[in-house]
Amino acid sequence: MRLLEVRDLALEYRTKKGPFLALEDIQFHVEKGEVLAFVGESGCGKTTLGMSILRLLPENAHILRGEILFEGRDILRLSQEELRRYRWKEVSMIFQAAMNSLNPVKRVGDQIKEAIQTHEPDISKGELKRRVEALFRLVNLPLSRIGDYPHQYSGGMRQRAVIAMALALRPKLIIADEATTALDVIVQDQILKETKLLQKEFGLSFIFISHDIALAFEVADRVAVMYGGRVVEMGSSHDLEDSPTHPYTMALLESYPTLTVERRRLRPIPGDPIKVTGGAKGCRFFMRCPEAEASCKEITPPWVEVGKGHMVSCLRR
Ligand SMILES: Nc1ncnc2c1ncn2[C@@H]1O[C@H](COP(=O)(O)OP(=O)(O)OP(=O)(O)O)[C@@H](O)[C@H]1O
Ligand SMILES: [Mg+2]
Repeated sequence: MRLLEVRDLALEYRTKKGPFLALEDIQFHVEKGEVLAFVGESGCGKTTLGMSILRLLPENAHILRGEILFEGRDILRLSQEELRRYRWKEVSMIFQAAMNSLNPVKRVGDQIKEAIQTHEPDISKGELKRRVEALFRLVNLPLSRIGDYPHQYSGGMRQRAVIAMALALRPKLIIADEATTALDVIVQDQILKETKLLQKEFGLSFIFISHDIALAFEVADRVAVMYGGRVVEMGSSHDLEDSPTHPYTMALLESYPTLTVERRRLRPIPGDPIKVTGGAKGCRFFMRCPEAEASCKEITPPWVEVGKGHMVSCLRR
């Protein structure tokens, strides 16, 4: 059985200006032990997707259709009580800008303790202490800093603390939303390498959300490229890096420096990211696509398999 399978998910935000379709036609799965990355520009729906999987959506978000199956159970149908057991214990999330979201007036160790106690109220004091210490060791935080407050930590240490928090209840899947974006490259690199080791050691699955496609290739087994609330291309990191097929994926790749061509000039993708109201037909990248033809405006592109497990949604392919 697949760990996570999302089928035909569509979600709209209801706003004063009318409904806004933030996710449409989202289909993907995550296997046990796999890292799947979602990449795309700001506003393409990455966080919305992550929040949907945890069912932590704001009130004006409405899921229009679809299924989110975790180990075969549709989490859109869980009761509040079932949800409480599912969140953090089965799936946890490292929120965007999470390193600033630790409670400033509580010691870091205590915050992690409380997270565990909330879900395991019967845990003994000794066991709780051991669990928190083990988590500190796991994410390479010195035990001498358990009693510190968040402001006494560096940015990298705060991020490690947030990762420890996400691991605290031993979930099977972690959604990491721009988890390292705010850190400098060296610390980011260290933390990603360590997280990768943890992931391998525990057979954890990750949904890795980032606007940085080069980073996604380094971290993930497979990558899904999102544009305007849709996935436009999905496949192994290897396939997408070697043979990007959707014009948007190509544009994203060109706009990022790679490790091999270090000094390549950054090229911005022309045009603005779109906002879709209502069920628009046609390809969403139409306005900005260098290869667009008249039909691209009219016909919603179907999925085409261009290699094994390498899918692209583009009429021109
Ligand atoms: N509560 C809300 N009400 C209305 N619109 C929203 C709401 N939350 C998000 N949106 C809109 O939905 C779209 C997707 O937002 P989301 O935060 O999922 O994007 P993102 O890909 O995570 O972007 P970023 O890279 O900036 O974090 C954006 O256009 C955003 O403005
Ligand atoms: Mg986001």
